[in-house]
Amino acid sequence: MKRIVSFITENFEKEVLESFEISSGLLRASNMTEDEIIEEISLSGLKGRGGAAYPTGKKLAQSAVFKSDVKYLICNADEGEPGTFKDRDLLKYDALGVFEGMVISALAVRATDGILYLREEYSFLIDELENILSQMRSKKILGHNILDTGLNFDISIFSGAGAYICGEGTSLIESIEGKPGRPRNKPPYTKEQGLFMKPTLLNNVETYAAINAIMKNGYEEFIKYGTEKSPGTKLISLCGNVNSPGTYEIPFGVTLKEIIEKIGNGVKNERNVKFVQIGGISGPLILGKNLDIPFTYEDFDKIDVSMGSGAILVVDDQTDILDFLDAVQAFFKHESCGKCTPCREGNRQLLNVLARMRKGIETESDIVNIERIAKTMKYASFCGLGQTAPTALLSAIKNCPEEIFRRGEQHA
Ligand SMILES: Cc1cc2nc3c(=O)[nH]c(=O)nc-3n(C[C@H](O)[C@H](O)[C@H](O)COP(=O)(O)O)c2cc1C
Ligand code: SF4
Repeated sequence: MKRIVSFITENFEKEVLESFEISSGLLRASNMTEDEIIEEISLSGLKGRGGAAYPTGKKLAQSAVFKSDVKYLICNADEGEPGTFKDRDLLKYDALGVFEGMVISALAVRATDGILYLREEYSFLIDELENILSQMRSKKILGHNILDTGLNFDISIFSGAGAYICGEGTSLIESIEGKPGRPRNKPPYTKEQGLFMKPTLLNNVETYAAINAIMKNGYEEFIKYGTEKSPGTKLISLCGNVNSPGTYEIPFGVTLKEIIEKIGNGVKNERNVKFVQIGGISGPLILGKNLDIPFTYEDFDKIDVSMGSGAILVVDDQTDILDFLDAVQAFFKHESCGKCTPCREGNRQLLNVLARMRKGIETESDIVNIERIAKTMKYASFCGLGQTAPTALLSAIKNCPEEIFRRGEQHA
C-alpha cells in the first residue's frame, strides 16, 4: 500500500489492534450537538464515496429530521463493482475508523441500530471485525448510553449473498429483510422509510471513514487537500495493466496520467494505454490520449464522466475493445435482477449484437440497433444497474467508433 497522502488511511500501517483508546474524533463528537456534527461534515464538502456523490452533510441533515424509537444506520460494504477494492482495504486495515465514523453519524442522526452490510466474499474479515466490535462494547463506545451521550447504539454484521444489485441501497435493504435483492420504488426514501420501514441512513464504507477522519482532524485540515469543488482526498482502486495496482489515497486534482505513471509505476511491459475505465465496470472509457484530465468531480463533469466509486482500470493497447465490451455486458446480463425489461432484455440483446460484431458478421440493422438498445437501457431502466450497464459501450461508440464498427465492410 502506497499512500500519496494519509488523511483517511493514517492507521493503515498499524498492527492488528490488541487494544485501543477512544479516538479524539469520537470524543469530540460526543461533546457536540447533532447540529454541530452535521455542520462540521457539511463544511468539509464531503460527498458520498459509494458512487452517487451526494453531499454527506446534507444527507445527515435530512436523515436527522426523522425521529423514531428505532432508526437504522447502514454501512454499505457490498463493493460488488468489479475493479473496486478500497472498501475491503479500509475494513482490513482500519475497521475501527469505519466503525467510529458510524458511531459519529449515529450521534448526528440519533440512530439506534447500526449494520455493516458486508459482501459475502469479504467474510474472511468477520472474526476480526467482531473482535473490534466487542472491544468497542467493552469501552462503552457501543451499547447502552454510549460515551454518556444518552444514545443506545450498537453495530451488527450482515453478510450479503454476493449479488451486485444488493449494493444499490434499496435492494440491500430488501435483502436484509429476507426478500430477493431488487430495488424499491422511491419515494418513500430510505431516510424516511428504509429498513423495516424505519428511518435509515445508508452510507459507503469510505464515507464513514472520512467522517471519522474529518471529526478527528477538523474540516479545515480536510479542505487543505483537493480543489475548491472537490475538497479533500479520495481512495482509488487502481487496477488492470499497471505495474503497481492497489488502493491509494490521493488528493483530488492529480491527473490520470500522474496516477498511472507516478502512483501505478506505469503500464506493464511498457505498453501504451488504450483506455481507462473510471468508476468500475459501470463507468465510461477515457482514451489513452486524453489522460491529462485532473481527477476531480468538476473536470469529470465537463466530459460527462461519473467518478463512481473511484476505481481506475487501466487497459493497454493489446486489448480488443469488442472483447472488453463483451465481458462488460456478460457481467451485467448475469447481475441484472430481471425486474424491468430494458435491463433484463437489453443486456441479452447487446451481447447478441456484440457476438456478431466480434465475428465480423453484423448486419446494417445491428449497427443502428446497438446504440438504440443502449440508449433505451440508459433512459428507461428502473435502477442504476440497467441505466449504467451500457455506459462503457456508449462511450466507446462516442470516443472510438472506428474500433467498434471496424468490421462494417463485411455487412451481410
Ligand atoms: C447497482 C448499484 C450498485 C451499487 N453498489 C454499491 C456498493 O457496492 N457500495 C456502495 O457504497 N454504494 C453502492 N451503490 C450506491 C448506493 O445505492 C448508495 O448510493 C450509496 O451506498 C450511498 O452511500 P454514500 O452516500 O456514502 O455514497 C450502488 C448503486 C447501484 C445502482
Ligand atoms: S435496471 Fe431493472 S432489471 Fe436491471 S437491476 Fe435494476 S431493476 Fe433490475
